Amino acid sequence: MAPLSTFLKAFAATRHASNISSVLGLVARQTGTFVPKPGYFPEKGDDTIAGGIFCISLSDLATYLSKTGNNPASTGSESPRGQGAATSGSGPYPAQAFTDPSLTKHTIFAPKTPPPANVSLPFIAWGNGGCGTDPMSFKNFLIEIASHGYVIAADGVAGGNIGSSQTMVSTMRASLDWAMAGGAAKYGNVNVTAMTTMGQSCGGLESMSTAYHDDRVKRIILLNIAIFQDDRRYLLQEIKVPVAYFVGALKLDMGAPNAEKDYKLLNAGLPAYKASLDTGHGGTYAATNGGKFGKAVVNYLEWQWRGDPKSKAMLLDPNSADSLVKDKWTVEYKNWT
Ligand SMILES: *[C@@H]1O[C@H](CO)[C@@H](O)[C@H](O)[C@H]1NC(C)=O
Ligand SMILES: *[C@@H]1O[C@H](CO)[C@@H](O)[C@H](O)[C@H]1NC(C)=O
Repeated sequence: MAPLSTFLKAFAATRHASNISSVLGLVARQTGTFVPKPGYFPEKGDDTIAGGIFCISLSDLATYLSKTGNNPASTGSESPRGQGAATSGSGPYPAQAFTDPSLTKHTIFAPKTPPPANVSLPFIAWGNGGCGTDPMSFKNFLIEIASHGYVIAADGVAGGNIGSSQTMVSTMRASLDWAMAGGAAKYGNVNVTAMTTMGQSCGGLESMSTAYHDDRVKRIILLNIAIFQDDRRYLLQEIKVPVAYFVGALKLDMGAPNAEKDYKLLNAGLPAYKASLDTGHGGTYAATNGGKFGKAVVNYLEWQWRGDPKSKAMLLDPNSADSLVKDKWTVEYKNWT
């Protein structure tokens, strides 16, 4: 068994210590959990555990960590050395966090004032590390993205007080439903045909579970995570939209070796992107504007949703100005045109 502190930190590298009891709450919800069986594809990605059918239970995670010797609290040469400055983001639309009476278990990250109506805003549903209920440790990163003209509904609220110990697939799905019903329109000209699910660690697996069998989701972004258990990788057959992985170093981040496996198993022909930086499991969220993870994800989104050629080159061409490779990411990709 890994020490208790190790696995509590596992999904929670960027969460508050006060959520320890809520992490333990995951154990109590294990009964009736999804049982993988090749060829068995449940209708929806929901499960009795946080993170849904692509995720792992806390007890299985403890076993996994003791077997692999991974320490989710490890840091690498690119890990932030402290908390960065709080800004309104580096994009053209200074952004902030909003509470919204029409979506009370979430926090909206959006431009402070709606951009002009001719600026179409892609929509993102976000899930936290540990499937936690407070997104504020990601605010530098999420504000940075929003400042480039995105509306994000993040699971949870400041302080995490949403009446449940963790978020579920249903929490993230509520964000999609809300946007589809026009809830996000007050933040600008939101394009609900351009929807992404994205998250850190457990929140990344929640993103994949939410996108599973939900064709409203057109892109999936997993941060520092991929499927843990070999016996459920077959579920990737049902993933039909481009997937991007931004992970830490192979030897440090528990998500990185699994991303190697999942990337290879994605359906033939499916566009996919994978980039690895010398960080541990915790990324660079705390840095000013979310650091190198902020820059990488913003440019991935700008390429995907706005077809921005400069962003595309940064991601795909190591020799381009400001490329991810020049930022010391190790990059692999396939099936893009
Ligand atoms: C929106 O309209 C303004 C004013 O006409 C123009 O300057 C700007 O380039 C337009 N933006 C886009 C994204 O079309
Ligand atoms: C909305 O997003 C879709 C998918 O990227 C795109 O084809 C469409 O042109 C966008 N609509 C607007 C108004 O920008």
